Order: sequence, then C-alpha cells, then structure tokens
Amino acid sequence: MTDADEARYRDQPLRSFGRTGGRPLSPRQKALMAGALDTWRIPEGEEAIDLNVLFPEKKTFWLEIGFGGAEHMIAQAARNPDTGIIGCEPFLEGVAKALAGIEDTGASNIRLWPDDARPLMARLPDQSLDRVFILFPDPWPKRRQHKRRLVQPAFLEALYPKLKPGGHLRFATDVKSYADEALLTFLSDGRFEWLAGAADDWRVSPADHVTTRYESKQLGDCRPVWFDFRIG
Ligand SMILES: C[S@@+](CC[C@H](N)C(=O)[O-])C[C@H]1O[C@@H](n2cnc3c(N)ncnc32)[C@H](O)[C@@H]1O
Repeated sequence: MTDADEARYRDQPLRSFGRTGGRPLSPRQKALMAGALDTWRIPEGEEAIDLNVLFPEKKTFWLEIGFGGAEHMIAQAARNPDTGIIGCEPFLEGVAKALAGIEDTGASNIRLWPDDARPLMARLPDQSLDRVFILFPDPWPKRRQHKRRLVQPAFLEALYPKLKPGGHLRFATDVKSYADEALLTFLSDGRFEWLAGAADDWRVSPADHVTTRYESKQLGDCRPVWFDFRIG
C-alpha cells in the first residue's frame, strides 16, 4: 500500500454496510446494470451536485440511504411525482432491483448512487434536502460492531447541513440497542426535533410508509420503531 492509499483509507469512515455482491444477477438484471444504470446513476466525481439540474422541474428533493430492495423508494417515487429522489445503495442486487422498478413503473424522478451515501452527501449543497429516509439500516448487533452503525454523531454532523430548515428525517429499526442508541444520538445532537407526541407515533408504522421485504422478515429483536424528526 502506498502512502497515498494509506491516507485515503485512513480518512474514510468505517464501512457501515455488509456485502455488496449477492446472488448471481438474472439476465434481465445484468442487462439493466450494463445499460440502464448509466442513464440513472449520478456520475462519480468530486464536484457539487446541482439538484435543479439533476431533477429539472422538481420542487422537493429526498434522499434514501440504503434502499435495499428498492420497494420503498420505487413506491414513494410513484406517489410523489413532483419530488426528485436520490437513492443510495452499495448492494448491487439492490441496485439492479431499483433499475427493474424504474423500468416497470416508468419512474423518471429517481437517481441512483450505487455506493456509500457519505461521499455523495458531501457533494450535495447545504440546505437542499426536504426529506431523508434511513430505514432499517444494517444493525451491526454485536457490541464490537456498533462502531459500524451509520447513525453516529459524525454522520449527523455531515447530514444535518444538507437538510433544509423544516426538513424531515425518518429513522426505523427493529433492533432494540440500535433504537436506543440512535434516539440518544439524534436527541443529544439537539438539532433534530423528535415529532412523537404519543407512544403510537413511534411504535406504529407511519401512514405514508411502504413496507419492504426486508422489514417483513422481522430479523431484529424488537418490534419496529419509527422515529420522525424535524430539522430545527
Ligand atoms: C438492512 S438493509 C435495509 C434495506 C431497506 N432500507 C429496507 O428497509 O428494506 C440496509 C441497507 O443499507 C445499506 N447501507 C448500509 N450502509 C450504507 C451506506 N453508508 N450508504 C448507503 N447504503 C448503505 C446496505 O447495503 C443495506 O442494503
């Protein structure tokens, strides 16, 4: 490893996702990855992303971090045609599913970042996002793995400036220790106003939520919790 490589890896945040490969892609998925991905992906690079150029004529901009099988993102795009949605996901099978969903629904208001959301976030203008979704992020359940969890003070430090004042963020998990840790992290930050007024506001799936296959598997150790925050 060269000195430059060492410096690059040292400066990167810890990996918050598991595998990026999965089962072999189907012929359709392979064709979509080889063709349609170039149409919908945000090009790699360092330069700032102008959301008005990325989504001409859209008024609001959402970010979904870790869209998994893309069911939520695809359904939200159909329900919210005036919104531009950036979906981030390093798991290639998930990206292929998103491309299939875009093709099946004819959605034109989704752009894909097939990688770690964090470098993408750094390229977004400040106060540009109306909503952010972090739904069932990788739980990293063992204590020694907790440092890989996405929701950490440094992550909120990077994300907060990208949200518009009055913007919204939704976090969901079915892992008790992550629920506790994430809520503490958001509230300790002090800039995320928790919107729950009663217990059902966090323990009942929100009316505008779209259940995913992953969520339905109930792999965690508690019932799902839903934390909705407004940006102060
Ligand atoms: C447990 S899955 C849940 C997927 C989906 N949100 C759902 O509810 O069905 C979490 C996903 O987050 C993705 N992920 C983890 N860290 C990420 C990061 N830094 N940037 C983007 N995606 C990430 C993983 O690859 C994984 O597919």
